Amino acid sequence: GVYVKCFCRNAYHGASPYLMGLTALSTWRFNVPTGFGIHQSMNPDPYRGPWGGANCRDSPSQTLRSCDCGAGECQAGVKYADQLEDVLRFSMPKDKCGAFFAESIQGVGGTTQFPKNFLRKAFDIVRAKGGICISDEVQTGFGRLGDHFWGFESHGVTPDIVTMAKGIGNGFPLAAVVTTPEIALSMAKALHFNTYGGNPLACAVGSAVLDVIEEEKIQENAEKTGTHFILELRKLMDEFETIGDVRGKGLMIGVELVKNREGIEPLPVEDVNKVWEHMRDYGILVGKGGIFGNVLRIKPPMCITKADVDFTIAVLKDALKTCL
Ligand SMILES: Cc1ncc(COP(=O)(O)O)c(C=O)c1O
Repeated sequence: GVYVKCFCRNAYHGASPYLMGLTALSTWRFNVPTGFGIHQSMNPDPYRGPWGGANCRDSPSQTLRSCDCGAGECQAGVKYADQLEDVLRFSMPKDKCGAFFAESIQGVGGTTQFPKNFLRKAFDIVRAKGGICISDEVQTGFGRLGDHFWGFESHGVTPDIVTMAKGIGNGFPLAAVVTTPEIALSMAKALHFNTYGGNPLACAVGSAVLDVIEEEKIQENAEKTGTHFILELRKLMDEFETIGDVRGKGLMIGVELVKNREGIEPLPVEDVNKVWEHMRDYGILVGKGGIFGNVLRIKPPMCITKADVDFTIAVLKDALKTCL
């Protein structure tokens, strides 16, 4: 069968040998050959990429780039999809493709959001060559993005395979792959087994987590507090030139720190660390991401309150004032 796969640069899908091949961030790659049969396409990044404008993202916060696309049509998404098509044209057997992998918002890559219509076009291109489409919902799933339970829904696509973890167990080690009966049958071509697969305790935890998400309206909270969070961060941009970009949706948020807003030169990691440690001193744990390590990745527990958000904003403001 055809096994050649494709995905976008700046992706993180895991650190086991095969997944390292799917991970296109040098920070996460050891000096061993990985990624046989895997090809990378240009990352559709509306902030740092060659194309992107003021309407690309499905977010309450857009880049400061200008845009002359008409309503509902995003030229940037089309151009990045053309790049994917080019990779398939040159690097794959003629008219064939095994699969395409993507997160609906890149997490480790710095909360990078693709232009709105990119994934839809990418799925069409891949399927036209017989490939299947895989959504990695490890970070974006389970309501974190607020308006949808799954990130792919907000791109208007239906994947053939969805991978999920993290939020599924709320800290308990649990992960799952969901697919069609037809694709699942391929696992019957050989014996497949792992010791803890289908563990009843893990499954009970997963089931309880789903109940809590529903009963405590966690997804609605992600939407409400997340939107408030993003808008408050956006206000900080008026005060601090070092914030080059605020992006994301729901409680999956990125704040890209830069040396200068015009040139979007990344803030050196030593300076990012000062901000990061200052926030930690106040009990706020944020992640760091992106190829330059200059994006604050804000992915708090989905039960946080408006008061938690306001406290975080005050601490970040203090950090930017005193550390830089
Ligand atoms: C988006 C994404 N995919 C896949 C993985 C890999 O999961 P695991 O560490 O369980 O292999 C991660 C882990 O951080 C992730 O963030």
